[in-house]
Amino acid sequence: MPATLFVHQMRYGPAQNFQYLIASSASKTAFLVDPAWDVDALLGEVETLGLSVVGALVTHHHRDHCDGVPRFVQLTGQPVYAHSADLHAVPGGAAVTAIEDGQVIGAEDLQVLCMHTPGHTAGSVSFLAGSDLCTGDTLFVGTIGRVDLPDSSAESLFWSLRKLGMLPDETAVYPGHDYADRPSSTIGEQKQRNPYMRVNQLEDFLSFVR
Ligand SMILES: [Fe+2]
Repeated sequence: MPATLFVHQMRYGPAQNFQYLIASSASKTAFLVDPAWDVDALLGEVETLGLSVVGALVTHHHRDHCDGVPRFVQLTGQPVYAHSADLHAVPGGAAVTAIEDGQVIGAEDLQVLCMHTPGHTAGSVSFLAGSDLCTGDTLFVGTIGRVDLPDSSAESLFWSLRKLGMLPDETAVYPGHDYADRPSSTIGEQKQRNPYMRVNQLEDFLSFVR
């Protein structure tokens, strides 16, 4: 991945949500991660930074992460991507394109890897751009997303956390909510300090989350 990628963190809405721009300083293009709450303000930040938005990426179907998809499409006409397993519940209908694990979205100097990390929802994904990872509600700083919802799976989340744990320690973690004393972390730090990532056995994890 080129070293020109950067992540811009934003915080809109009453539910401590984070939204992100994954951007290229070379081409001045950006993906908006989780268009929700106030798309006009989010796009205002895009403009302030001198960037052009070339699409939106949805981490999962919960409304606090994607209720702005129709407005995003209306204002930009750019594509929106969500995992196939969550597509049915993402607003925006035909404007939303299904993505799968391992798929690279974007081109040239702005490329984002879709990592399927189910558990919080069946189609939860994390987006990896260079050494930056947007984790949605899969992994927070110090904790994890809920697994007691209708399409949640604690077992899936255990394996998703193991998958993220295989990334280099220095990988930056940008979560979907502002639930900690700091807004971001690293995979290495979470493997050391996040109790849910410290658990090595599935059985222990399941008894821990229930
Ligand atoms: Fe969620």
